[in-house]
Amino acid sequence: MLRTVAALTLSVVLVAPAHASAAEPPPRVPEQVGWGGAVSSVDPDASQIGIDVLRRGGNAVDAAVATAAALGVTDPFSAGIGGGGFFVHYDARTRRVSTLDGRETAPRSATEQLFVENGKPLPFSEAMTSGLSVGVPGTPKTWQQALRKWGTLNLRDAMAPAEALARRGFVVDKTFNSQIANNAARFADFTSTRDLYLPGGQPPAVGSTFRNPQLADTYRELARTELASLYGGAVGRDLVKTVQQPPVVPGSTRNVRPGAMEISDLARYQVERRDPTHTRYRGLDVYGMAAPSSGGTTVGEALNILESTDLSKASDVQYLHRFLESSRLSFADRLRWVGDPAFSQVPTEGLLSQKFADTRACLIKPDAVLPAPQPAADPNNPKPCEATAGPSNLREDAERTTHLTVADRWGNVVAYTLTIEAEGGSGIVVPGRGFLLNNELTDFEFVAPTAGVPHPNLPGPGKRPRSSMAPTIVLDHGNVVLAVGSPGGATIITTVLQILIGRLDRNMTLRDAVAAPRASQRNSATNTTPAEAEFIAAAATAGLQAIGHKFSQNAEIGAATAVERTKDGRWRAVAEPTRRGGGAARVVWVG
Ligand code: GLY
Repeated sequence: MLRTVAALTLSVVLVAPAHASAAEPPPRVPEQVGWGGAVSSVDPDASQIGIDVLRRGGNAVDAAVATAAALGVTDPFSAGIGGGGFFVHYDARTRRVSTLDGRETAPRSATEQLFVENGKPLPFSEAMTSGLSVGVPGTPKTWQQALRKWGTLNLRDAMAPAEALARRGFVVDKTFNSQIANNAARFADFTSTRDLYLPGGQPPAVGSTFRNPQLADTYRELARTELASLYGGAVGRDLVKTVQQPPVVPGSTRNVRPGAMEISDLARYQVERRDPTHTRYRGLDVYGMAAPSSGGTTVGEALNILESTDLSKASDVQYLHRFLESSRLSFADRLRWVGDPAFSQVPTEGLLSQKFADTRACLIKPDAVLPAPQPAADPNNPKPCEATAGPSNLREDAERTTHLTVADRWGNVVAYTLTIEAEGGSGIVVPGRGFLLNNELTDFEFVAPTAGVPHPNLPGPGKRPRSSMAPTIVLDHGNVVLAVGSPGGATIITTVLQILIGRLDRNMTLRDAVAAPRASQRNSATNTTPAEAEFIAAAATAGLQAIGHKFSQNAEIGAATAVERTKDGRWRAVAEPTRRGGGAARVVWVG
C-alpha cells in the first residue's frame, strides 16, 4: 500500500521536472559532495532527472531507472531500450549486493555458424551493421525487474521524465553531434536512422534542440502496456520486422544481412538474477557482475594477483607495471573461460580463488615484461607459475556503452552499465519507434579461436554473448565504500581496475583516480598497450619502457562514474572532468 501511495505522489511531480527548457542544460560537474543521495552519469540532463527523483523521495533504484531511461534519449548511441546491461544493487537494509543480468540474447535460430559465411568469418564491419548481430533487448525488462524488486516507483513513473525529455528536446552537445558524424555513412544507409539523426543530411548542429517524439511515444507505450508491447506486441513486431528486413535506403550498396529473430524470441526473454562475484581485497569486499559478463571475474582475478604486492609502497613504475601485468594475465584467463553459464561451466570460483591468483602472480617479474600473448591457465587445476590451458583469443571489441552510479538517502546504491554495443549499435533505428537496435551478438567469437576446440563464447540458440561490463560495489564490513563502473568494451575492465587500485592502494582521491591517465593491457599479441597521451607522457612511462613495455596512443579510454561514502556519511559523486566531454556528478543537497 505504501508503495502505491508513494508512486501516486511521485507521478504528479515527475512529469514536470525542474529543468523544463531545452535551452538551459543542467551543469556538467566532475565532483559534488553532500547529502540526500547522488547520481553520476555521462550526461547532465540524465543526472538531473535522477537527482529530481531522489529529491522527491524516490530511492536509488527509482533514480537509476529514470537516469537510464534519460540516457536512452540523450546518449542513444551508447545505450537504450534496444540494448542490454547489468544492474548491481546494494540494499542498505540487508547490507547485501544482488545483480540483474539483462544481457541481450541470441534468437533460438542462432547456431555456432551465425557469423560464418562460405566457411569464413564475416568481416566485423559487416556483421555489426546487420540484422544478424541484433540480440533480444534486455534493458526494458531490467528496469521493470529492478523496480519490482527494490524500487518504489512503477515503470510508468520512472520513465515519465525521460519521455518528457524526448518530447521537449535537449541541447545537442559536441559528443552527441560527433557520435552521429562518426556513424554518418552507415546511418545514411537506413531510412529510419537517416530521418531521425541526419535531418537535412547532416548531424543536428551543436547548440540546437533535438527532439525524439517517436521515442517518447514508444516509452509511453512500453510503460502503459507493462512492456507487453515490446515482448510480444506491436513494438515487438516492428522490431522483429526491422531485424528481418532492415530498412536499407534504395540504391545503397551496403550488404546488410537480415537476422532471424522471431516474436517468440522476444516473448521468451528473461532477466536473470545472479549471485554477484565476490573478491576480498585489502580486507574489503569487492562485488561485481558474474558471467556472462567477464567483468567481475577479470577485475577480481587481477585484484587477487595484485594482493601479494604492497602497492601503496611501490614506486610509480612498479605500481603501473604490476597493474599492466595483472590485467594481461587475467585477460588471458577471461578469454579462455568465460561465456554464458547456461551453455558451459564457467569456473567462477576458481578464477576468483586466491590460490589460483597466486599461481599467476608468481609469473610477474619486477624487471621484465611477460612475453605476449600470455596463454591462459587452468583455474580447475592451478599449478604454480605455469600456464597450461592453451592460447587465448585476442580479438578486441568496440568501445562504447554507458555507466551510471546512484546512491540514496537510505544508503542504497546502484552501479548499472548498459549498452547497445558499438557506438550507434547496429546503426538501425526501428522505423516509427525512435530507438536504435544493438549489435551485441558481435561480442560472441565468430569462430573458435583454436580450430576444432570448443569455446565458451561461440554463438548458440538463446545464448548470451560474453561481456566486459564491470559495475562494481566495494563494501567494508557490509558498509558501502564506493561504487564504480565505465563504458569502453573490454577496456571497461582495466578502467575499473585502475580506478580501484588508484583509490584503494595509492590513496588518490576518487576524483583523481577517475581522472588519472589510463592504459589498457588486454593480453595483446604485440605486447603493445593502448594508452592515453597523458599516460605516455608521464614520468613513469620511461621506466615502464625501460623494462619492455610498449605503448600506442588511444585518444580516450572509458568514461567512468562513481560514488563513495565519506566518513561523515555524505555522498561524493564523481564523473569524468574531460572524457566524453565531461560527465555530471550530482548530489541532492550540496554540503
Ligand atoms: N558490449 C560491451 C560489453 O558487453 O562488454
